[in-house]
Amino acid sequence: MAQSTSAEKAPAGKNTVTLIDNGTGRSWDLPILEGTEGPRVIDVRRLYADTGFFTYDPSYGATASCDSNITFIDGEAGVLRHAGYSIEDLAEHSDYMEVCYLLLHGELPNQAQRREFEKAITYHTMLHEQMMNFYRGFRRDSHPMAIMVGMVGAMSAFYHDSTDISDPYQRMVASHRLIAKMPTIAAMAYKYSIGQPFIYPRNDLSFAANFLHMTFAVPCEDFNIRPALARAMDRIFILHADHEQNASTSTVRIAGSSGANPFACIAAGIASLWGPAHGGANEAVLQMLQEIGSKERIPEFIERAKNKDDPFRLMGFGHRVYKHYDPRAAVLRKSCYEVLDDLGKRDEPLLGLAMELERIALEDDYFVEKKLFPNVDFYSGIILQAMGFPTTMFTVLFALARTVGWVAQWKEMVEDPHHKISRPRQLYTGYAKREFVPMDQRG
Ligand code: ACO
Repeated sequence: MAQSTSAEKAPAGKNTVTLIDNGTGRSWDLPILEGTEGPRVIDVRRLYADTGFFTYDPSYGATASCDSNITFIDGEAGVLRHAGYSIEDLAEHSDYMEVCYLLLHGELPNQAQRREFEKAITYHTMLHEQMMNFYRGFRRDSHPMAIMVGMVGAMSAFYHDSTDISDPYQRMVASHRLIAKMPTIAAMAYKYSIGQPFIYPRNDLSFAANFLHMTFAVPCEDFNIRPALARAMDRIFILHADHEQNASTSTVRIAGSSGANPFACIAAGIASLWGPAHGGANEAVLQMLQEIGSKERIPEFIERAKNKDDPFRLMGFGHRVYKHYDPRAAVLRKSCYEVLDDLGKRDEPLLGLAMELERIALEDDYFVEKKLFPNVDFYSGIILQAMGFPTTMFTVLFALARTVGWVAQWKEMVEDPHHKISRPRQLYTGYAKREFVPMDQRG
């Protein structure tokens, strides 16, 4: 039975909504919260205590799980901004290091801050030498995401001096370590899979160029990094740096809400990102394009995607939040041309196939009505493949780039004095209480 409460007694006004239980006729006024931008939010924190009700929103489609000042998305308008700066501006005028600073500190760095930050990151690019042994425990044909989950989780066993989350300095060092070591861990996962020696980081290179170096260089010859490719890599990192409360970020926050150390939390985020409905989609897009094979077969696959009895979905299409062209996909589409031009691969058949698929899908009533547009994963795979990455590395690159977002969101949560352990409730639909049946009496 619901109790009389402060919320019930709170005066109704323009900053409240009224909840009416039509069964009992009782009503409660719930506060409305307003952010800087975006939909207003009904504050239900006291709902259960005041009314005895839970809310029901299994995939959080209408639930704000936290307040955050890092990233803003307007899915209807196709807008993505970090600390107020549009993703288009950041991709065009900034670089990944600067975006990392922005996500962690809420402001773009001045020159001195930038230098200091870059120095802090490059200071941490090497891995503890003993961690190399871990790679050798994996099968050579392991999926590199499996290796990423293991290696990043293992960081908590190596960097004890940055696992005390109550110490701001340790939190900062852990953040820098995660951002700095992720490219090294990712590149080594790749090297291990192809049986080549690990290449150590080079701190004289930019973040993106160093990653390309560790991935593609070999000890026996010089490796020249093509500036256009380093720039494209950097842009891919920027575009994937953060995306507010998506599945993997929410996973990181939930893991972190219990006080778990940041390395364990980011490993949890990597696991969540792996799925094909999330970061695994870029790998799935390429597999899908290869399966389609030629433009003539596109209609067949479009029909399959529309068929409710067929589990097939057009990978790289649709998004929980964007009901408009994903702004990141628009930037990547342009980048795709630049990379293919630089590599002399403009006639890459997969690009032609992707563009035709996009054209046909965007004109199809099913996709138009459901507002299914290409998402960030639709073009990234084509670029990455042209750069020489195997498909299994695509999600790894996403994880590498997203690490700063996860870290920034984790830090924001831990630094919020009001944060508590996350503990959703449920609508129980199982058996009500029943008597235990001994084995010899069971049918
Ligand atoms: N192809 C065909 N139909 C689709 C697709 C698709 N790619 N995406 C959604 N739909 C349909 C669904 O069947 C559903 O139809 P219905 O209303 O008739 O049942 C409707 O559109 C809504 O789809 P939901 O799955 O309810 O939407 P949700 O927000 O839960 O899912 C998701 C979003 C997971 C991204 C989905 O669009 C999808 O599976 N896309 C393909 C995978 C993909 O590209 N994922 C990458 C996402 S971006 C990222 O993580 C970086």
